[in-house]
Amino acid sequence: MKEQIEQIKVTSIEEVKNAKDLRELSDLKVKYLGKKGELTSVLRGMKDLRPEERPVIGELVNKVRDELNELFESIEKELQEAELARKLEEEKIDVTLPSNKAKRGSKHPLNRVIEEIEDLFVSMGYDVVDGPELETDEYCFERLNLPKGHPARDMQDSFYITPEHLLRTQTSAVQARVMMANEEKSPIRVIVPGKTYRREDDATHSHQFNQVEGLVIDKGITLAHLKGTLEVFMRKLLGDNTQLRFRPSYFPFTEPSYEVDVSCFKCGGKGCNLCKQTGWIELLGAGMVHPNVLKMNGYDPEKYSGFAFGTGLDRLAMFKYGITDMRYLYRNDVRFLTQFDQMDREGK
Ligand code: PHE
Repeated sequence: MKEQIEQIKVTSIEEVKNAKDLRELSDLKVKYLGKKGELTSVLRGMKDLRPEERPVIGELVNKVRDELNELFESIEKELQEAELARKLEEEKIDVTLPSNKAKRGSKHPLNRVIEEIEDLFVSMGYDVVDGPELETDEYCFERLNLPKGHPARDMQDSFYITPEHLLRTQTSAVQARVMMANEEKSPIRVIVPGKTYRREDDATHSHQFNQVEGLVIDKGITLAHLKGTLEVFMRKLLGDNTQLRFRPSYFPFTEPSYEVDVSCFKCGGKGCNLCKQTGWIELLGAGMVHPNVLKMNGYDPEKYSGFAFGTGLDRLAMFKYGITDMRYLYRNDVRFLTQFDQMDREGK
């Protein structure tokens, strides 16, 4: 029996030491130390021994079991460590590898300008309103003091869909819509950013472009209000040193009418290639709302007066960001579009 125990000890130690992983090790534990294990069955044979032999064998079995337990423990630890090391090796992360950065879109330069303008005017108590891009002849022209056959219609090449419908050539159409929609004929303070369409296409014109219209109607509105408003508007967008110049002009829906120039923000007014050596850049059309327009849209010109202005957002964005060709704005080239994020980050 002694030899049998010794034999079990030798083979079990050998096998435990060769165990390749934790599973094999636990199988071996069952095989040798489990309830039906080899050492246990030796103990069961004790009853056949002579009484004086029993304590000796018992002690031996206990010793071997203790030894084996200890061995199992230390091998288990070794295998666990090896397992962990293997996992760490396999799953290691190289933090210096380039990441799979999610590509984020960037805000279009036009929308940047629109949002900046909206924020400014909303802060001054204006509403931001909208109108249809497919407009009627009535709202685009007639209600703006441009009856059919009026020679000033030649100022804007248009896309007619039917004799009465066209793609709006100017956001001014919404002036009439806002006045007509206001049933109480109460004061108005709105801006209208939106798409407009004309038949042209070159580096500084596109058949589709964007305008922002402004309309204020109240008692006692004067040219001074228009001038102050446009000064705040342009300085916010183009810089605090921007100067304004009002030149007399003609629009059928305003009287008097002006073209408004801003001092060239590139050269500060000294003259450069951007302003064609004049020091000024033409940016807005504006004027006092024509009494006929007030009347046609339900406002009494004896009580109310107002001002209106309109400007091309594409041109504004081009100046603000130094874009040389308007068509870039409509090409969806990611290399072009992502530059503006960079500018914002740099605080330009
Ligand atoms: N609608 C005019 C244009 O597109 C601009 C303008 C708007 C002029 C409002 C005066 C008042 O040219």
